[in-house]
Amino acid sequence: MHEPLNTPEISLDAYVAEQENKDLLRFITCGSVDDGKSTLIGRLLFDSKMIFEDQLATLQSDSRKMGTTGDNMDLALLLDGLEAEREQGITIDVAYRFFATDKRRFIVADTPGHEQYTRNMATGASTADAAVILVDARKGILDQTRRHSYICSLLGVRHIILAVNKMDLVNYDKATFEAIRDAYEAFARIIGYDEVSCIPLSALTGENVMSSAVHMDWFTGPTLQAELETISVDDRHNERPFRFPVQWVNRPNLDFRGFSGTIADGTVHVGDEIVALPSARTSRIKSIVTFDETLEEARSGQAVTLTLEDEIDISRGDMICHRENRAGLSDQFEVKIVWMADEPLMPGRAYLFKSGVNTTAMVVTRIKHVVNVNTLEHMATKRLDLNEIGVCTISLDRRIPFDPYKENRQTGSFIIIDKMTNNTVGAGMIDFGLRRASNIHWQAVDVNKTARAAIKVQKPSVLWFTGLSGSGKSTIANLVEKQLHAAGRHTYMLDGDNVRHGLNKDLGFTEEDRVENIRRIAEVARLMVDAGLIVLVSFISPFRSERRMARNLLEPGEFHEIFVDTPLEVCESRDAKGLYKKAREGKIKNFTGIDSPYEKPEDCDLRLETTKLSSEDCANAVIDYLLEVQIKTD
Ligand code: ADX
Repeated sequence: MHEPLNTPEISLDAYVAEQENKDLLRFITCGSVDDGKSTLIGRLLFDSKMIFEDQLATLQSDSRKMGTTGDNMDLALLLDGLEAEREQGITIDVAYRFFATDKRRFIVADTPGHEQYTRNMATGASTADAAVILVDARKGILDQTRRHSYICSLLGVRHIILAVNKMDLVNYDKATFEAIRDAYEAFARIIGYDEVSCIPLSALTGENVMSSAVHMDWFTGPTLQAELETISVDDRHNERPFRFPVQWVNRPNLDFRGFSGTIADGTVHVGDEIVALPSARTSRIKSIVTFDETLEEARSGQAVTLTLEDEIDISRGDMICHRENRAGLSDQFEVKIVWMADEPLMPGRAYLFKSGVNTTAMVVTRIKHVVNVNTLEHMATKRLDLNEIGVCTISLDRRIPFDPYKENRQTGSFIIIDKMTNNTVGAGMIDFGLRRASNIHWQAVDVNKTARAAIKVQKPSVLWFTGLSGSGKSTIANLVEKQLHAAGRHTYMLDGDNVRHGLNKDLGFTEEDRVENIRRIAEVARLMVDAGLIVLVSFISPFRSERRMARNLLEPGEFHEIFVDTPLEVCESRDAKGLYKKAREGKIKNFTGIDSPYEKPEDCDLRLETTKLSSEDCANAVIDYLLEVQIKTD
C-alpha cells in the first residue's frame, strides 16, 4: 500500500476538521497503465494545491531524473511512490489519496490498470460513490474498460465518468470523442448505467480537468472537477433500515451490559423496539452511549454502545435491527465471487467465509456460471481462476444475519479465506439467501448411531487410506478388512476404482473432479458411520484440504488417516495397472505424482512405509493401532 505523499496525517486531520461542512465524495480511477491515470490524479492533486512544498521539491528533482516530460514536472511521479513501481512504470495495489476543492472533499482510490490486478480494483470500488474510467482517445474502448465498468456496476458504484484522455494527441477531434462516447454509452446501458458523463480531456495539459479546454470549444459539458463536485453522494444511509453488527459485548461490571460496534446503516433512538439476530429475541433500546457522552439518537457510521431494557443473550457477530425491519438470516446464498488467488476456487472445497466479525466454514456448492467480463456472456465452468467472476451458491456452517449487497454494501459483502494459508482468496457479494436451506429440516430419528453401533458391539469409524496410485492402499485395506471381518466386525470398503464405476462415474481426474470425488466419498463414509459400520476408504485423496474436510465431517476420534507411504519410484516400478507408463507417455493426463500433485499428510494418525514392511505387516500395524485407540469394543 502506498503512503499518501501529500497528506501527512496531522495536516489531514486539521484539514478535515476545518472542512467539516463540506461533503465527501469517494471515487476510484480505473484505466490501463498507459491511459494517463497517474498523470490525471497528479493533476487533480496538484491543481487543488494539496501538494506541500517539500514534496514539490522532490517531485521536481525526480522529474528531472526519470520523468517522461522533459523539463516539466511529471505528475505521474506523484503517484508512483515506490521505487520498484517507478522502474516498472506500473502501479500496483490500491492507494488512497485525499484532496479538496472549495466545494467538496475527495478520497480517491487509485487502482492499477493491469488486467491481473482486477482484485485491487474491486477493493477500491467497494467503497466508492463514483468511478472515473479513463480511456486513451487514440485507442477508444478496450476490453479492460468494459471489465472495469462491469466490476464497478457489480460493486454498486453509482456514477461513472468516462474520461477520454489524450485529446491533445488526436487534435482535439470532436468526431473521435463522439464515437467513443456513443460506443461507451451503449455498453454502459447493458450493465445498468443509464446516464454516464463523458468528458474529453487532456491530463497532461490540464484541459477539462479543472479548467475548461481552450481547444475544445465544441464541448459544452462540465470539466472533470465540476462533475466530481456536483454528482450526488449517497447520503441516504441514515434513512435506511437500522443495522448494528455487534463487535463486542461490553461488560465492565455486573451492572452494565452493553453491545458495542459501528452502526452499519440507519438511525437508532432510545426507546426503539429492536430484535437481535440470529436469536430473534426482542427488546428496547435503553441507552446509547459513546466514550464521552450519552445520546438520544445515533446514525450510520457512529461507533456506539447500546444497552437494552431486557437481559437478552447477544454475542459478538450478532446483529441488532429494528423489530419491524430486520435483516435476513440464512446459511445458504446465491452470491457473486471475484476470485483473487492463483489456486482456482473449487466447488466442494472448504474455505472460511468472513463477513464483518463473523467467520464460519463455507463450501461453494455450485458454480452456476462464470461471467466473461468483456462480453458479459455467461459460461459454464467447474472452477474459478484468478480474476474471474462467478455466480455461485454457497453453504455455511451456521446461519448469519445479512442483507443483499445491492441493499447494503457492508452487511452484504464477505471475503473468502484459505483455511491452510490464511490468505484472502476471494471477495463476494450476496445476491440473496436461499430459502431451501430453511425449509429442509434434519429429520429426527429415534434409532441413532449409538443404538446401531451398540447392536454391532463396535465403535463406528473411518480408516482413511491415502497414498499414490499403486502404493498398496487397497491391498492393505483388504487385508485389514479380512481380519476385522473374521473378528465379527461389520465393515465396508470404499475403493477409488470401484466407486468410480458407479456413484462417481461422472468424475474424471481434474483437480475439481477429485475434490468432488472425495467430498462424495466423505459424505458416504459419514452415512456409513452413522449406520454403525467400520468403513475402510481407499482413495488417493491427494489434497490435504479434502482429507481435512472428511475428518471434520466426523466426530472426534472417528476418523483415522493412514498414509500408505510408498515413494513414487517404487509405485512406478511396480506399475501393476500399467498406468504410470501411459502417463509418462502422455496418454493419461493429470496423473497423480506425474503431472498432478500429491500433498503428503502432515498430521496422519498412522504412517505405513511399504518399502520396509510387507503388506501383511502393514495390515497388522493397522490392527495394532486400532486396538490401541480401542475402536474394537471387545
Ligand atoms: S482420487 O485422486 O480422486 O482420490 P481415486 O482414488 O478415486 O483418485 O482413483 C485413483 C485410481 O484411478 C488409480 O488407482 C488409478 O487406477 C485410476 N486412475 C486413472 N487415471 C488416473 C489419474 N489421472 N490419476 C490417478 N489415478 C488414475
